[in-house]
Amino acid sequence: MPENRVVLITGASSGFGRETARLLLGRGFKVYGTSRNPSAKPQESGVGMLALDVDSDDSVQGGVKELLDETGRLDILVNNAGYVLTGGAEETSIAEAKAQLETDFFGPVRMTKAVLPTMRKQGSGQIVNISSLAAVLPVPFESYYAAAKAALLAWSEALRHEVKSLGIKVSVIEPGFFKTNLGNTRKTTKHTIRDYDELRQRATAALDEDFENGADPRLVGEMVLRIITSGNPKLEYAVGREKRYKTLKHLMPQSIIENGVRRHWKLDR
Ligand SMILES: NC(=O)c1ccc[n+]([C@@H]2O[C@H](COP(=O)([O-])OP(=O)(O)OC[C@H]3O[C@@H](n4cnc5c(N)ncnc54)[C@H](OP(=O)(O)O)[C@@H]3O)[C@@H](O)[C@H]2O)c1
Repeated sequence: MPENRVVLITGASSGFGRETARLLLGRGFKVYGTSRNPSAKPQESGVGMLALDVDSDDSVQGGVKELLDETGRLDILVNNAGYVLTGGAEETSIAEAKAQLETDFFGPVRMTKAVLPTMRKQGSGQIVNISSLAAVLPVPFESYYAAAKAALLAWSEALRHEVKSLGIKVSVIEPGFFKTNLGNTRKTTKHTIRDYDELRQRATAALDEDFENGADPRLVGEMVLRIITSGNPKLEYAVGREKRYKTLKHLMPQSIIENGVRRHWKLDR
């Protein structure tokens, strides 16, 4: 496969998206990225930045059309844009929960539906969805984020079967904690309930520490490169220091995993 394939990466203005764009550009890929407001942030030169909000049908349709008008094809879509909402499951309003799923689940759905007609016509294409280890090991006080990422994983697995015979490959990356802008853009629920105050504060302080001490986001870019240059990519790729916990979850008694989770998030005194 020639290395001049066209790649579109959502959320390429920072973090994983930006690192992936930079790496793929250096490898000869023709790279396009998205941001809701590309002019507001310094851009990687050589990356074609599109103004695109994954929450909006019109914005997604417009952005994908703009790219296709320019390139005539799209080989790889990396669904990366996202944010984290923290707060107790009970504290979160339905509107806040829906907004989390709108970006982190329906965003990739919307993007994928917009590019599949082109990939089907080409008889080839690849979709890489950035989920999270939280899909497998949900983080307390981040329940709707975990739900969105778990939904993305399940949806990707079904989609993978549906499009395989059409020449389209689907994979999912499940990163642990990485030092990106995600901790800084973290949203919190408007409503709080006093009974959860102490637990929430302890858990979210541990979360902020995890982001702060997170691994280098270039590792995720390298994982994307590995997947898109692999002849036969798998469905799931865990990446980061915490990836061993995914394996341990299947091997160890549930009580041990639960105690470890409670200890990590400081849920017991
Ligand atoms: N960092 C971690 O530890 C970690 C772990 C597991 C999974 N992840 C996942 O990795 C992905 C990338 O996150 P990151 O860590 O690289 O965070 P980041 O540095 O905050 O980057 C997030 C990107 O998403 C874009 N974005 C957010 N909402 C958007 C929307 N509605 N429409 C279009 N773009 C939007 C942002 O672009 P603009 O603001 O410019 O629009 C930004 O480029 C996310 O899906 C996140 O959930 C991260």
